[in-house]
Amino acid sequence: MKKFLDLGLQPLANSYLLKKDLNRKEKKFRLSVGFDEKKYLVSILNTVPKEKMFNENYPYKSSESYTMKKEFRKLSEKIKKKFRPNMVLEIGSNDGAFLKNFNKKNIVGVEPCRNLANITKRKGYKTFCEYWDSKLAKIITKDQKIDLIYSANTLSHIENYSEIFKAVDLALTNKGVLVLEDPSLLECLKNGAYDQFYCEHVYVFSAIALQKIIDPFNLEIFDIENTRTHGGSNRYFIKKKNNNFYKVSKNVRNNISKEMKFGLHKFTTYKNFSRKVVKSKIKLNKLFNNLLKKNKNIIGYGATAKSCTVLNYCKIKKGAIKYFYDTTSFKIGKYLPGSKIEIKKYKKLNKEDTDIVYLGAWNFKDEIFKKEKHFIKSGGKFITHIPLPKII
Ligand code: TYD
Repeated sequence: MKKFLDLGLQPLANSYLLKKDLNRKEKKFRLSVGFDEKKYLVSILNTVPKEKMFNENYPYKSSESYTMKKEFRKLSEKIKKKFRPNMVLEIGSNDGAFLKNFNKKNIVGVEPCRNLANITKRKGYKTFCEYWDSKLAKIITKDQKIDLIYSANTLSHIENYSEIFKAVDLALTNKGVLVLEDPSLLECLKNGAYDQFYCEHVYVFSAIALQKIIDPFNLEIFDIENTRTHGGSNRYFIKKKNNNFYKVSKNVRNNISKEMKFGLHKFTTYKNFSRKVVKSKIKLNKLFNNLLKKNKNIIGYGATAKSCTVLNYCKIKKGAIKYFYDTTSFKIGKYLPGSKIEIKKYKKLNKEDTDIVYLGAWNFKDEIFKKEKHFIKSGGKFITHIPLPKII
């Protein structure tokens, strides 16, 4: 692994603080990112034990996002039509935003965060509160193998991907399909989205890297869809190599050639990216300082894990952002790790309350701008750091 980016000392991104803990020293780790020239794989260099991040206090719920719910609904319709699976399994089923589009008899969830697994269990969906591995795959498929495995924004969180693919190979029927969805490295680099890197995102995948890492597990990509979720993601359709039921689509070749053209296989591409990140940090600080000089009242929107990376890496001045609005019940009343900015229950934006809003959830820009039409019409502005810091 060759290091190309240093995002400084960072707290655990989803460890929101209670008021009583504000004076306690937070555990920090060095967030740096490297490139493996053999596997073309990009990953963070110091990982955090999974139990520290994925436990009964996991704050993110997919069902609280309108965009995600809509995407999952659309995808599940497509999956039913195209693959007609008898048995589906979701790795990282969160609070059931995907599961709930299926008949309870036909789907199994795997979710290690107890608070989330309990939600789907209570709704009657068979859910295993465990990490996905070969042992669990054998238990689940004792009587029936799986026709389709789906996993969104989960593989990038798991350091030991080999175990995941080993378990997938065990669990899938010969004609079975694995659908994986994760932020696209190409989009991340194009967008200057260095905040895709935080403790939970061990990897940001490209098609060229995924192709290499699944190869030893008898798996191959047969189609790729580019989606707009999470700032640009790839949805990979994967099959066993000896499954000739599906032909390899030209989308695979096209995606790979786009990635090679951009240089995702070369270390110099990542060094250039890292220079852009440093420039972005300087520019964002300048932008905040200018606004503060003009006594602008700035708040944040979407207390994301990504914001945690940005605020801590850029060392945004204390008090620059008065508070964050967020819709997630678990985050409300708590404080962002590191920057210790308060998170308040979301209220529709209003020019009387704030002049300008830092867009922490930039990946939901369209949804948010639609919701805040009134604020925008009355002259309200947003600060974004994607692709470069500016006021919009
Ligand atoms: P997400 O994009 O998953 O970010 P990360 O993975 O970096 O934590 O989370 C989006 C956050 O933004 C989540 O806390 C909910 C919040 N949010 C709002 O408060 N209002 C909105 O309209 C939207 C779309 C999101």
